[in-house]
Amino acid sequence: MALFVDSADADEVKRAMELGVIYGVTTNPILIARSGKEARQVIAELSEICPGPIFHQVAAGSTEEMLAEAKTFSARLPQRLVIKVPCTLEGLRLVSQIGEETPCAVTAIFTLAQTYLACQAGARYVIPYVNRLTRAGGDGPGLVKTMREIISESEAEILAASLKSPQDVVSALFSGAHHVTAPLKVIEEMAKDQLTAEALAEFAAAQDEPS
Ligand code: E4P
Repeated sequence: MALFVDSADADEVKRAMELGVIYGVTTNPILIARSGKEARQVIAELSEICPGPIFHQVAAGSTEEMLAEAKTFSARLPQRLVIKVPCTLEGLRLVSQIGEETPCAVTAIFTLAQTYLACQAGARYVIPYVNRLTRAGGDGPGLVKTMREIISESEAEILAASLKSPQDVVSALFSGAHHVTAPLKVIEEMAKDQLTAEALAEFAAAQDEPS
C-alpha cells in the first residue's frame, strides 16, 4: 500500500518527502513540461531527493523511439527507475521487449481489456486513471475493483492515479488498489479534518484557561 507523490517539481517532492509517508515519485510529460526543465534533469533531481522508485513516462510514439528513450534513462538510474508506458500497441510492444529486465508500468488505463493486455505484455504496474474515468461518466473505483480480479493470476500491481481528493484515494484503496499516487496538495488534505481542527481548538483553549 505504497503512497507515491505525482509531481515533477523538485521543491514539491522535497516537501513531500519531509512528511515521511512517501515511497516514490510518479511523473508524466505534462508535469515535466510544467517544471520548465528537461526530463533528464528532472529525473536526476528527483532521484537525489527520493530514495525510492522514480517513474519516468516515455514521451515518444514508436516502439523504437520509446526503447531508445527508456535505455537512456535506465542507464542513469538502473535500480530504481520504472519506465511508464502509455497503453498503446507500440507501448505494449515495448513492455514485452524490456519488461523482464526493466520494471514497466502501463499507464492511462481505462478498461479491463487494456489491463489484460498490459499484464500479458509483462507490466509490473498497471495504472488506472480513476478520477478521469469517473469525470468521463464511468466508474473509476469500479474499474479498480474489477482490475484487481482480472490481475489476480498475474504479478502486476495496481497503482491508482488521477486521484483528485482524499476521497478518491480512499475509494481507490478500498476498491483494491495496491498503491496510490496523488499530488502533494491532495496528500496534505488527507491529514486534515474539520473535527480534528475543532479538537485542536479545544485543546488550545484549555491551555489558555487559568488553572
Ligand atoms: C499518474 O501517474 C499520472 O501522472 C496522473 O495521475 C495522471 O492523471 P491526471 O492527468 O488526471 O492528473
